[in-house]
Amino acid sequence: MGLTRDFFIYLSQNKALNSGAKRWGLKMGAQSVVAGTNIKEMVESVKALNAHGISATIDNLGEFVFQKEEALEAKEQILAVIKAIHENNLDAHISLKPTQLGLDIEYTFCVDNLREIVALAHEYNIFINFDMEDYGHLKPSFDIIDELSVDYDNIGTVIQAYFYESEENIKRYKDYRLRIVKGAYKEPENLAYQDKREIDQNYIRLIEYHLLNGKFTSIATHDHQVINHVKAFAKKHQIPKDKYEFQMLYGFRKDLQLELAKEGFNFCTYVPFGKDWYGYFMRRLAERPQNLNLVFKQVFNK
Ligand code: FDA
Repeated sequence: MGLTRDFFIYLSQNKALNSGAKRWGLKMGAQSVVAGTNIKEMVESVKALNAHGISATIDNLGEFVFQKEEALEAKEQILAVIKAIHENNLDAHISLKPTQLGLDIEYTFCVDNLREIVALAHEYNIFINFDMEDYGHLKPSFDIIDELSVDYDNIGTVIQAYFYESEENIKRYKDYRLRIVKGAYKEPENLAYQDKREIDQNYIRLIEYHLLNGKFTSIATHDHQVINHVKAFAKKHQIPKDKYEFQMLYGFRKDLQLELAKEGFNFCTYVPFGKDWYGYFMRRLAERPQNLNLVFKQVFNK
């Protein structure tokens, strides 16, 4: 399991495969978990989710960008997504990754790009979630959030439960709308819990903390045990349903997504789309090698 995970994380970071994949179009089963390669296809996918009472957080795929032109292109694409949400009256908001907007190129360049995005979204009353990436990008991402929060209130972020410092961070960002996740990257022992049980325990602790804190909480997991725990916890502590939502990734546990929405819980699907699907797809395989079933089904059910 550890080896398989490391192998897919290694593949997710392979530059040649990453750039090759942009030319291939959606392949290897990625079409099951990526909502198209362009805005038109993504809008149709979001409309279909909205018809079931499910909202969407839209991710224009791409990360670890090292060229200014590429970061500017990503910015334009995200601005176009914001306009598409507004024009199509979608029940949706944006998820983005600071490394796609130039965090590895130059801090101020990245802040300028993000400011433009947050400002347009603010004009249309659209929320922007800053996804959290690997540890090396954590502090600068929080710094950008602090800087933009001086002028805008339509920003939220992610707390990753595998980090020892997640408790400190959730307290620091207690006034924000937060998505709480277990954590998707490979992090060393001196920074992050490695044991699944310890990660799960910390995950529950953080969710309970933010729910009791009264700010909006997005519980982003496919783990039905966590979901059942949260349902019971919210009931016991009379936490209103409009104070939290469940989130899952597009294409995963579709039945459970629909079931939760039907039960009257707020549900939001993370909708990734775009040409840069390869790294995202490999990380999903790293998390859960059973997802390889998706690949086999797509390859053989032609
Ligand atoms: P986990 O992988 O721990 O599985 C627990 C149990 O759930 C399994 O044993 C199984 O029983 C069940 N299960 C899980 N997947 C299943 C499936 N597909 N089908 C059936 N059963 C399944 N990470 C990050 O570092 N930064 C971020 O910004 C984000 N953002 C984000 C948004 C959203 C909406 C989600 C859902 C996730 C993220 N993540 C993330 C990823 C997150 O950190 C984590 O890596 C994955 O969600 C995997 O952990 P889970 O909690 O889903 O279950």
